[in-house]
Amino acid sequence: MSLFSTDALAERRDRAASAIEGAADLVLVTAGEPLQIPGGLDQQYRFVPHPEYYWLSGSRRSGGAMAWTPDDGWTPFVRPVTAEERLWEGDPEAPEGRDVAELEDWLKACGASPERTALLGAGATGTVQVEGTAACRDGARQRLDVVRRHKDAEEIGLLRRAARATAAGHARAREVIAPGVDERSIQIELEAETFRHGADAMGYESIVGVGANSAVLHFAPGRRRAEEGELVLIDAGGAVAGYTSDVTRTYPVGRTFTERQQAIFDLVSRSLRECSDLCRPGIEWHDVHRRAAEILASGLVELGILRGSVDGLLESEAIALFFPHGIGHMVGLGVRDVGGHAPDREPGRKCCGARVRVDLPLEAGFVMTVEPGLYFVPAILDDPERRQRFADAVDWTALEPWRDVGGVRLEDNLVVTEAEPENLTASIPLS
Ligand code: GLY
Ligand code: MN
Ligand code: MN
Repeated sequence: MSLFSTDALAERRDRAASAIEGAADLVLVTAGEPLQIPGGLDQQYRFVPHPEYYWLSGSRRSGGAMAWTPDDGWTPFVRPVTAEERLWEGDPEAPEGRDVAELEDWLKACGASPERTALLGAGATGTVQVEGTAACRDGARQRLDVVRRHKDAEEIGLLRRAARATAAGHARAREVIAPGVDERSIQIELEAETFRHGADAMGYESIVGVGANSAVLHFAPGRRRAEEGELVLIDAGGAVAGYTSDVTRTYPVGRTFTERQQAIFDLVSRSLRECSDLCRPGIEWHDVHRRAAEILASGLVELGILRGSVDGLLESEAIALFFPHGIGHMVGLGVRDVGGHAPDREPGRKCCGARVRVDLPLEAGFVMTVEPGLYFVPAILDDPERRQRFADAVDWTALEPWRDVGGVRLEDNLVVTEAEPENLTASIPLS
């Protein structure tokens, strides 16, 4: 049984069919096959279906495919449940559809040329032997991406459940942070509580960084203990049925921030607030990044760390010394949901020195993370080339005492609507 209603799946397939009409004579979207763990007899990695397949089929079972032709629309093919599976795993999910063993003959009968065949999802895997071209695949994928960017009500429902579980996990983490507690213990408490409140997985490897580790963007928690006066940066989100939250908070160890930590925190929280409010239809995502960069740069000038005009500091990319990543990305079906760029734009355009994963105007139905941050990263600040390039833009002497702050990031998940943006993660206190 799929988690999604028949109506919701039918609507998705209709939207996808309208989008890909004309791009191909055959579109085959495969789930993918489980991966064997090398040397791990009888063991496989946890199977994650290709999101294109899962989105269309509502099924997380491996080995299946959704086939589309202009005449017949969508035909689901599924891997039937075997007696072996029943023995070892009980009764697994068995979606409706034709036996995937019939797919080969079906494809032959379909007779589409490779030039007009788009292999999406995991591509030609397992028993699926069919040829397509990269050009046809890319064309069909771009059109499907446009449709998948908009989350339907059932997807948003799963994201709300993921956010509730994540809120419980972050609340527990906040509770256990104290001098002497190590990163790994905070992670364990956070994840256990997230699972207790309905998550069936973490959406990505949890990040917990204490002290200097808070400035490592994707830090894997270890045995480092928190000390009074340090920061703890936590970036962790629970997932429900593949739909995940992606939430960051930065907490003080002890009751309050130090003066310097508070100054940095205030700039980041102001960026979060203003950029979240910008999540409205028609707003360019690069402009949201730029607004965060303006707030952060102007704050760093006031604190005496950066020098010069805010526009100049964005133009020269000096702000990326302290805000080196993009303001956010699409989130939903996985921690990186379909993003991309508008068709008339070069892929990978940077903004204020950062790689921004989305280069589009926002539309209602998009779900975005907004995640401004300021970091004092030794690998960046001690790089001789950057010190030379930004000799005038940074007051290198004034910067020194700020380095102990480490890093501050705050991250929420926003649904773009025709009215006010909806903050799915608003119930998680900022500090
Ligand atoms: N959790 C990784 C990120 O925020 O993108
Ligand atoms: Mn995150
Ligand atoms: Mn994120």
